[in-house]
Amino acid sequence: MELRISRTSGLVGTIEVPGDKSISHRAVMLGALARGRTRVSNFLRSADCLSTAACFGKLGVSIEDRGSELIIEGQGLHGLKEPSDVLDAGNSGTTMRLMAGILAGQNFYSCMTGDASLRSRPMSRVTRPLSLMGATILGRADGALAPLAIRGGRLKSIIYPLPVASAQVKSAVLLAALFADGPSKVVEPKPSRDHTERMLEYFGASLERRGNEITVYPEPNLAARDVSVPGDISSAAFFIVGALITPESDLTIRNVGVNPTRTGILDVLRAMGAQIDVTDTGVMNGEPTADLRVRSSRLGGTEIGGSLIPRLIDEIPVLAVAAVFAEGRTVIRDAAELKVKESDRLSTTAGELRRFGASITETPDGLIIEGGAPLSATLCSSHGDHRIAMALAVAGLASPGETVIGGAGAISVSFPGFADVLNSARLQY
Ligand code: S3P
Repeated sequence: MELRISRTSGLVGTIEVPGDKSISHRAVMLGALARGRTRVSNFLRSADCLSTAACFGKLGVSIEDRGSELIIEGQGLHGLKEPSDVLDAGNSGTTMRLMAGILAGQNFYSCMTGDASLRSRPMSRVTRPLSLMGATILGRADGALAPLAIRGGRLKSIIYPLPVASAQVKSAVLLAALFADGPSKVVEPKPSRDHTERMLEYFGASLERRGNEITVYPEPNLAARDVSVPGDISSAAFFIVGALITPESDLTIRNVGVNPTRTGILDVLRAMGAQIDVTDTGVMNGEPTADLRVRSSRLGGTEIGGSLIPRLIDEIPVLAVAAVFAEGRTVIRDAAELKVKESDRLSTTAGELRRFGASITETPDGLIIEGGAPLSATLCSSHGDHRIAMALAVAGLASPGETVIGGAGAISVSFPGFADVLNSARLQY
């Protein structure tokens, strides 16, 4: 599928973006493990989150989509059933890695696979700690690659310093810790998104957080709770940058999740000179939310690295687009994790933005972008990666001519309806 984008003079009005992907996955997982009925409103019906729901269906959990909400009949911590077929995580790293943690604690056999991209992504980062906890996990390349075969059971508690700042790895261990024989502790090198911790607390788990250490106590009584999913800041990011780099924008994005472990994008864009107002703040099921008002802004280059990286890990492709339209140099470092996302995002971001005429160099752990080069529309490719497709669409909004993005079907992984929301906000040039 192709997406065609022509230059726009601005993004205006008030929009909403779909529910947060990370929170939607976790709502299904904890809803399935709790006792009783969990209702999830504003659930993200994207390919990734539907993969998680389908996997729990195969584990014997009834999940009904009533349109306005998803109804999950929780089976309790020990109520999942051995699946009679392979569980398919599709393109979703969150599904595979977090579910590996849950399946490691189940007294049955299961097998998980995914699409070609997911089957090439590193899994030893979860299979290693889960094996240390006592699960038997086999995978290609000595457990490093899916398909993964998991024989779980009662696990040993663990103290685990995470080798990478990854919320997926942290969450896999925290979820497995629910099934351990004593309290388990995870130590983070840098803070990553904490939706699992917040939702575990919301469902009644016993969890302690001290600095960069999280302790989970086993066998909690998880009670079903209703979850209302805030809008996804990672989806909002495309509209935020689109509004900043087009000249007549004044766009409000309502009900966006602004958990501080996710708002690195706002900090960086403000440091670049962006006019972004955060209003109407609130809290939904332990997650902070706000409305964001974004106006066209003159941006300058910046440096991005260190502990900011996990707080904006999924926004780097679209931040690179902002940097291309900024005055001066932007340096992104400490971001080697991008090489093992849905595509090698350092290489796909640099290669595709160069097609527009951008001056952008890939380094071993980041990008160097010389902003302000004149850009023009181009033919480009998503490389099967939803966030690359949408970042290129944003570049197209501010590039003269018509940009054609190949492989745009990938957008449905996280943001079905992206083109419609964009059309509702864009001014004709
Ligand atoms: C996610 C964590 C991040 C992020 C991914 C979603 C999550 O991955 O890139 O899109 O829901 O926990 P890592 O934790 O592996 O960096």
